[in-house]
Amino acid sequence: MAWKPSIDLRGPLRQRRANANPVSLHHFLPSAVADMDLQGLQHRRILLGVSGGIAAYKACELTRRLREAGAEVRVALTANAARFVTPLTFQALSGQPVRADLWDEAAEMGMGHLELARWAQRIVIAPASADVIAKLAHGFADDLLTTLCLASEAPLAIAPAMNHRMWRHPATQANIATLRTRGVAILGPEDGPLAEGESGPGRLMEPQAIAAVLAQQESTARANGRLGGVRVLIDAGPTYEDIDPVRFLGNRSSGRMGFAMAQAALDAGAQVTLVAGPVHLSTPPGAARIDVRSAREMREAVVAAAVEADIFIATAAVADWRPQQASAHKLKKGQAADTLSLIENPDILAEVAARANRPFVVGFAAETKDLERNAREKLARKKLDVIAANEVGADRGIDTDDNALHLYWNGGQQMLARAPKPQLASALIDRIATLYASRRDGR
Ligand SMILES: Cc1cc2nc3c(=O)[nH]c(=O)nc-3n(C[C@H](O)[C@H](O)[C@H](O)COP(=O)(O)O)c2cc1C
Repeated sequence: MAWKPSIDLRGPLRQRRANANPVSLHHFLPSAVADMDLQGLQHRRILLGVSGGIAAYKACELTRRLREAGAEVRVALTANAARFVTPLTFQALSGQPVRADLWDEAAEMGMGHLELARWAQRIVIAPASADVIAKLAHGFADDLLTTLCLASEAPLAIAPAMNHRMWRHPATQANIATLRTRGVAILGPEDGPLAEGESGPGRLMEPQAIAAVLAQQESTARANGRLGGVRVLIDAGPTYEDIDPVRFLGNRSSGRMGFAMAQAALDAGAQVTLVAGPVHLSTPPGAARIDVRSAREMREAVVAAAVEADIFIATAAVADWRPQQASAHKLKKGQAADTLSLIENPDILAEVAARANRPFVVGFAAETKDLERNAREKLARKKLDVIAANEVGADRGIDTDDNALHLYWNGGQQMLARAPKPQLASALIDRIATLYASRRDGR
């Protein structure tokens, strides 16, 4: 028998639904996603949070899909979500008790909220209302769902769904940016027909697509878990050193190698913090990204994050110098020669490597000549664990899609032949994982 969601459509909502454009359930589902297998969800413990929005009924479908894929699902509703769909519906679909209230004495006697937070291997909130997104961004814990999110170390994914004006509102966008920075995966929303006959970005990503993304994240983490539980800090891209309000000193680094390293580390199961200079790249899902502009901002972000890092990979092309003073006003023709004196920027890599409780440190060296000699000298002088050296030139290494690397460490070396940066990054992460493990285990 075909499954039908049991929906509690009350009062005005019933009328609004009647006026909405008819939409096929799979209208926005790319076939590639629809065809993906959900293998990665087998035996995973997923906490599904549902908040108060019209799309709450689609969480019923998601519950069913996650369970069909072999996941154990527990559902936590906000009080407002329970106005749209009853807890009983989710109880029937998940086969587990459903929680909708932090102050439920009987439920707390069973699996208490902290236990539930620990139980979850992954949390997904679908739909995520503008309200719940705001609360998460600001660390609220004033109901069951937000308390669970704050009390859990499980990776969090949210699938926003709301009116397009609510989605576009600067407040919502700022909250989303905050959550992204913390490594929360933002699934959707999709562009298309919304409630009340409106259209725009704000549609919940289809349940099958959400399940596919979660399955993908789980598979990747499990299949390549060489860095499972390891905290990896990566800096990437160029830095911009301001000369005046409209000019800066920069370099041609695109950040592609660093972002590929972040993706490869995520694929290997690592928790990744990515400190990015000004680049035009999207964040690998799951990485906590911190955007910076200048070398000094990058130093500040990296030094703070390094305290918590097991491995630090410095791919960023940090400017060696900056103008001694950035002019508050745009320089006029002829002024530059008198004004542009340069001073050295902090050496982020050397500073992290010199710390007492330092992470495993991997440096990059871009050389135009004497590659091995310069790389080995840098390895020793900066007390690095590994150095990845590459030759750079007009069409080599920097701002290109592929690259070749020579790796040097105390007692060994390896040549990674020319390959696209993502492939090269996987090979490099593999080598780093091996060297890190032998260092950690004292071999
Ligand atoms: C009929 C109706 C539909 C709503 N749909 C949405 C929605 O799709 N997305 C959203 O963010 N808020 C929506 N809201 C507003 C939220 O329900 C409201 O902000 C609520 O405080 C969210 O509570 P929560 O944090 O428990 O989810 C809707 C409200 C009503 C009355």
